[in-house]
This record gives sequence, structure tokens and C-alpha cells, in this order.
Amino acid sequence: MNSNYIIDIKYTNPILEWVLNKNNRDKHITVEPEHEGYAVFRDNLQSNPQDLIESGFPYKELYNIAEEIKLFYKLPQDVKIEPNYGYLVCYSINEHQVHAHNDPNFYYEGPDESLIEDKPDNYLSDVIHTRFNLLISKPLEGGNPVISEIEYNVKENELWRCLAGVDEHYTTKVIGSKPRIVLSFGRKIKVGQKGKWKVITK
Ligand SMILES: [Fe+2]
Repeated sequence: MNSNYIIDIKYTNPILEWVLNKNNRDKHITVEPEHEGYAVFRDNLQSNPQDLIESGFPYKELYNIAEEIKLFYKLPQDVKIEPNYGYLVCYSINEHQVHAHNDPNFYYEGPDESLIEDKPDNYLSDVIHTRFNLLISKPLEGGNPVISEIEYNVKENELWRCLAGVDEHYTTKVIGSKPRIVLSFGRKIKVGQKGKWKVITK
């Protein structure tokens, strides 16, 4: 849902510039999701991979945004990072659309294969895979999140929250020449906190 809370460009611009550099994308953002249209993403940014550090990826700004999200949504100080995708960036262009899906509430495809759990897709224990997102580049048209069949017309750099483990979500199609670049911070949120947030983010 919309938050009306805008992250300052002093934090997002260095990341935006890094992603808009095609050289960086070609070298470091190479995973193509199974979505319609063209998209590439890089997940688990918070694992500080050597190639990203050496490329000058703006980690200071990334962590500043992560902290600001924690403060704005009043997340517990010890809130855990969601381990499948963690913090991720996704770049997409004309015609890209994320298909309708839920994200796993358990260790499904994280980087450590020894931790992978065999559970039903809709498994839910006491934590919800929750994603706190912002578009650091919003397309001329489209690219909005749709959560439980409600489209949210988010502004560039506006935070939104998606209970990705329980609410089906997708995006509207990216139209035009400006790319869609999303930063997405995954957290494991205790089920009992869900009710409190609805008030916080209204
Ligand atoms: Fe998702």
C-alpha cells in the first residue's frame, strides 16, 4: 500500500547512477527472472559480494535506505532479513511485467543450498516474507504494484510495503523508454505485527 513517504534522492541517486551504467548491469546484474518482457535482477545485495564492492556499488546509501525503512515502518531493531532474495535491485524496460505470485515464507531458493526446506508453497509459520520497496526510476507509464488485485499508483522514490508471502502480487506493464528500477528490501516479519502496521501506514 502507499505510504506517501519519499526517500531522499541523495540516497537513491548514487544507486540510480550505478544501475543506469550499462557496464555495471552487464557485469553485475545478470539474473533474468521468468517474467514477461526484459528484466534483470541481483538479489542478496546485503551479502556484500566482492564484485559489487569492487564496482563501487553505493552500499552506504543502500544501508541508509534500509535503516530509514526500519524507522518509518517501526520495525523491531532485530528484524531479520528475508533469506531467499534479501535486498535486491531489478531493472526492467518496455513490456516488462511481473506475473502474479506469492513469495515463499520459508527457505526456498537462497544461496546456501544446505538450508533449503521442502515445504508446500503456501507454508506459513510465525513469519511473513514481507518486502519494502521503492521505484528509484518509475516508467513513464505502468510499473505499478498490484497487491491483492488493488493497483497502487506509487510515486518515484515512495516506499510501499507488500506482504509478499501472503498477498498475491504483480505489476502493471512497463510502457515507454524510461526503465523501471526497483529496490526491494525483504524482511521476515512476525505474523502478530501485521495488524499494527495497517495503522502505521494508513
Ligand atoms: Fe514477489
